[in-house]
Amino acid sequence: MKASFYQGNKTFSVEERDEQKPGPGEVRLKMAYCGICGTDLHIYHGAMDARVAMPETIGHEASATVAEIGEGVSGFEIGDAVVVRPLDNRAETEADRGHSHICKGLKFIGIDSPGGFQESWTVPAFVLHKVPAGVDLKVAALCEPLAVACHDVRLGEVKAGELAVVLGGGPIGLLVALVARAAGANVILAELNATRLDFARSLGFEAVNPVETDLLALCQEQSGGSGADIVFEVSGAKAAAASMTDLLAIRGRIVVVAIYPQPVEINLFQFFWKELQMKGARVYEPEDYERALALIAEGSLPLEKLITGTVPLADIQSAFEGLDAAPDSIKVLIQCN
Ligand SMILES: NC(=O)c1ccc[n+]([C@@H]2O[C@H](COP(=O)([O-])OP(=O)(O)OC[C@H]3O[C@@H](n4cnc5c(N)ncnc54)[C@H](O)[C@@H]3O)[C@@H](O)[C@H]2O)c1
Ligand SMILES: [Zn+2]
Repeated sequence: MKASFYQGNKTFSVEERDEQKPGPGEVRLKMAYCGICGTDLHIYHGAMDARVAMPETIGHEASATVAEIGEGVSGFEIGDAVVVRPLDNRAETEADRGHSHICKGLKFIGIDSPGGFQESWTVPAFVLHKVPAGVDLKVAALCEPLAVACHDVRLGEVKAGELAVVLGGGPIGLLVALVARAAGANVILAELNATRLDFARSLGFEAVNPVETDLLALCQEQSGGSGADIVFEVSGAKAAAASMTDLLAIRGRIVVVAIYPQPVEINLFQFFWKELQMKGARVYEPEDYERALALIAEGSLPLEKLITGTVPLADIQSAFEGLDAAPDSIKVLIQCN
């Protein structure tokens, strides 16, 4: 079988390798699709070389079918369509208070251990979720980032009729906007990139450039003067973080989805004055995967539109080069078989 290997220095090789027989508690997958995510691009840029054991197969947004079942695994049959929830919490302790998905010893499969950009991938059975019948495995490959969005909207406790502002219209911001809209929120999306703004509009969102449009005035206009009920920070931009407290109504909520490598300024006076709340939201829990799969099966979200390219495994190098050159494309999938 063929597997790709990240070699460092913006380079992938594609090589023959033996399939890995599943050990006890493991399942070997025949990979279908594996999406390229922002984190994979960070790896490609060398920003995570300290964490990735090179040469290494990366990739964690996978859809697949079950090819071989290890000892002691129940509930799966050969040929079952599955997606992978790439979190290995086997190092969890009591001190993690049951929060398995963000336990201190969490290993992210596809970064800290081999990933899905290969024809055949052996994983622990506990990371698998069955894909409902009739779902295209291409769309199912969006389950991982969609589950991020489901987690964010769930922790944000979005209610029908609320005004939600999504700062950042990348793949994650768009999915948060779609899931918030499915929960009944009125969504305003803020984005700087013109192509991404157009894309968000093509999905039916009111999408604005916060440098050109007075976002606060827009929020007030759409809420009878109150301001937004909830802001999702999905841009990772200092300016966006600085603006989020202004946009909110009294007792408004913030959900921080973006990863900030450095501390940024937030207006704490506003927290006191308006009794605001802020939550972090990291990855997903099993129920977010189930919700994402239900949304995919329902077919009501325009998820196919987010797939802006599909590239065969043999051309993984050009897929990364292409994404690097066109940072406003949304989701490129590697077709693994
Ligand atoms: N919480 C989690 O578990 C989780 C999971 C996946 C990704 N993330 C993080 O979520 C963030 C978004 O991911 P992505 O893949 O969509 O990233 P992305 O970089 O593709 O998207 C970010 C978008 O924000 C836009 N932006 C920049 N400055 C802005 C501003 N001032 N106002 C509005 N928009 C602005 C950019 O133009 C870009 O389109 C990243 O920080 C990523 O690391 C978090
Ligand atoms: Zn990802």
